[in-house]
Amino acid sequence: MGVVPPQERRLPHTADEVATYVVGAAVWAPSVHNSQPWRFTAGGAEITLHADISRQLQVADPRGREMMISCGAALFTAKLALRSLGYVPETRVLPDPADPLLIARLRWRRQASPAVAEERLFDQITRRRTHRGGFEPVPPDRGLVEALRQDAAQHGTLLRVAITDQARAVLAAITDMAERVEHLDAAYVRELTAWAPPPGSTRLDGVSASSYPARPDLMSPYFPGRDFAAGRGWGLQSSAAISSTRFAGLVCLLTTPADVPAAWVSAGQALQRILLRSSTFGVAAALHSQPVEVGWLREAIRSQLGDGSYPQLLLRLGTVLQNAVSLRRPTESVLTKGRGIPSAD
Ligand SMILES: Cc1cc2nc3c(=O)[nH]c(=O)nc-3n(C[C@H](O)[C@H](O)[C@H](O)COP(=O)(O)O)c2cc1C
Repeated sequence: MGVVPPQERRLPHTADEVATYVVGAAVWAPSVHNSQPWRFTAGGAEITLHADISRQLQVADPRGREMMISCGAALFTAKLALRSLGYVPETRVLPDPADPLLIARLRWRRQASPAVAEERLFDQITRRRTHRGGFEPVPPDRGLVEALRQDAAQHGTLLRVAITDQARAVLAAITDMAERVEHLDAAYVRELTAWAPPPGSTRLDGVSASSYPARPDLMSPYFPGRDFAAGRGWGLQSSAAISSTRFAGLVCLLTTPADVPAAWVSAGQALQRILLRSSTFGVAAALHSQPVEVGWLREAIRSQLGDGSYPQLLLRLGTVLQNAVSLRRPTESVLTKGRGIPSAD
């Protein structure tokens, strides 16, 4: 989906059109392995978001934690899309014991002009891309870290920045260890490669071979990316414009006070707000969930944090020259229309 300049956007009018527009934006949220584990139901001025359990990573994510984080990111994006139309989203987030895959119900009845800051975030939805590798030797803007901490706090989560070289080196070593441990599990490798379509594939999910480097970037300290190519030589050749000295960037942990589905959805909302905010500063993010997928390594990180909070994701933030490709399934394949409260229009 290309970015349509605001003056050329035909604004949706009916509730049906609003739902299509909102879900069309929400699908651009990040999701683990680009699994897009969500489905939306629309009826009247209401959208219901459920997790799509058929897309859960049964091996890497047996509790559905990353699936819920991905859905939380889609929820935040949907709310932002409603704000871009001048609607005030009313959200009821899980839990519903009778409907365990329900993430949220989203209604729009009132109107209020979007703030400039909201419009800026909205404009980044289709521009933002996950980065995989090192960053240019350009430090992020000084105001960024404080802005991101506030973004995390808006959802009851914490963004912890690894300030010392020692802390960064420890997190890099844990990521490296996690990557190695996961690769000892044949079922994990099978699942990973099933979400990595070959170059030229027409699939609209999974991690495209145009979105990861063919050879791992050398960076210090070294944070290994996922081995999507699994030795098959796939991936992007690095551009000559990219400097050979690459940096790990600003290393952060997104944490939550509890480790329950509602906290995972909050982490997803915070994640997308953080990624979009970074993008407004010209900063991209590399995401590492390997260190929080191996239970004992996740616990090792948690015990170092000192406040008992639960690490949900490791992020590295920095400046890049090359932008990766990312694909999504069409809106119609994730949106069912026709249920919900009657429309006012
Ligand atoms: C919970 C979660 C975990 C993720 N973990 C990783 C990861 O370990 N390695 C990685 O390269 N990308 C990771 N990603 C990023 C996804 O692969 C990415 O969002 C997806 O491929 C879509 O690409 P895009 O973000 O560029 O649109 C993760 C995303 C989420 C939401």
